[in-house]
Amino acid sequence: MVDMKKEGVCALVLAAGKGTRMKSEEPKVLHEIMGEPLLWYVFRALTSLFSEDSIFYVLGYKREMVEAALSFVKDRVIYQEKQLGTGDAFKCAYPFLKRQGFRWCLVVNGDVPFLEMEGIERLIERTLRENTPLSFLSITLEDPQGYGRVVRDESGMVLKVVEDKDIVDDEERLIKEVNAGVYVINLEVVGPYLERLRNNNAQGEYYLPDLISLMLEDERDVLAVNIEEGNAFLGVNTPRELIECEEILRERLVESFLDSGVILYNPSQVRIGPRVSIEGGCRLYGPVELYGECVLEKGVVVDSHVWMRDVIIQRDAHIFGFSHLEGARIGEQCSIGPFARLRPGSVIDENARVGNFVEIKKSHLGRGVKASHLSYLGDSEIGENTNIGAGTITCNYDGKAKHQTKIGKGVFVGSNTSLVAPITIGDRSIIGAGSTITKDIPEDMLSVARARQKNLMKRKL
Ligand code: UD1
Ligand code: CA
Repeated sequence: MVDMKKEGVCALVLAAGKGTRMKSEEPKVLHEIMGEPLLWYVFRALTSLFSEDSIFYVLGYKREMVEAALSFVKDRVIYQEKQLGTGDAFKCAYPFLKRQGFRWCLVVNGDVPFLEMEGIERLIERTLRENTPLSFLSITLEDPQGYGRVVRDESGMVLKVVEDKDIVDDEERLIKEVNAGVYVINLEVVGPYLERLRNNNAQGEYYLPDLISLMLEDERDVLAVNIEEGNAFLGVNTPRELIECEEILRERLVESFLDSGVILYNPSQVRIGPRVSIEGGCRLYGPVELYGECVLEKGVVVDSHVWMRDVIIQRDAHIFGFSHLEGARIGEQCSIGPFARLRPGSVIDENARVGNFVEIKKSHLGRGVKASHLSYLGDSEIGENTNIGAGTITCNYDGKAKHQTKIGKGVFVGSNTSLVAPITIGDRSIIGAGSTITKDIPEDMLSVARARQKNLMKRKL
């Protein structure tokens, strides 16, 4: 293994482009597959070899948006003001990397989510050992369209990389060996070659792969290593390529969950993100979507049409169909849904029940609480074994600020109750159905706050 720090190797991610072919306003590297942005995959792969502080990012198009979305780029952004090509992107970073004292740089494109790091490590190792000024990875694709083709002479020596748009020779178009967009560059040698990059090509851009032919002109060694790894290093340039990558990753993740003992009854229709962790024995009936940092402990059952992000579900809880859960923690043996909505900050303790058409936000439901039907509980703290009747609403917003509702233990809130916050309901109190509660209720009370019913004789006509 190469010690990257000791050898002075850093990593540089080229991510300044707009991604014109995506035809979208959003920077390409923020487009997601399986719920995570493309650039996150690149970051995660690189951290298996590099410490975070030696990974740098060239950003340009909507740089602030990328910085706001991805905290890991913080303090390590190099700004490329105009997107003049991959060669120019590297040139922007070069003086900075030199000043930092790095001797080698691994350069990767930010739109390649499946970086195969073992191949990259071997490439770095060999480049350093042979002290090659420049090396790069190539892959062989059935459909090489869109990629730079690797042109070799009869003896197999690399001559150059020709970009798809610059191909004039039909034979070159048929070449299936393409540039993967991964380079190891000797920073002590490359300087003068950056000055020699030209943009007299079909796109009017400075191409990083042109360093290859420039170095060869000077009879310097360039190492090209071909990786025969099916789907590694696929680049994402179009929506079609984005969803192709998504499907490859989705299938990979499904396979690994099945292997680890998770029962996915509808494997073709589940989408489980790369940061989700599910213990063996959990059952998921598809279609379901789980993203972000979800954790499902043993015995959890998730029914069809459930969507969740960043949810922790403890042992033996059951999530019924059509529930939408985000930023929540659900205790052991809870029953949630069908048609429940848990918003960020929902903490549901064990054995609680949240039923259909119940929305919960920033609220803590104690052990055994039941909110079975048609309620909104926001900014509230609800003690154990309390029963929330159908149609209970915490009126937490007065038009200006949000206020807290505190409900004690063993309280019975009758149906169709409005609780006007801030408000506190004491333990074991009972609230009559249809009440609008505006004043605190002490412990052990029976409160009714509604107009008294009158039964009047009908007037004779
Ligand atoms: C590039 C390679 C091509 C290779 C392919 C592999 C060049 C000229 N071509 O083509 O040989 O087969 O990747 O996926 O490098 N970027 C910047 N600044 C710029 C332009 C681009 O940071 O001025 C970034 C983009 O955000 C992107 C990456 O560089 O993440 C690659 O650029 P892209 O335009 O996608 O290059 P390709 O045409 O795919
Ligand atoms: Ca690309």
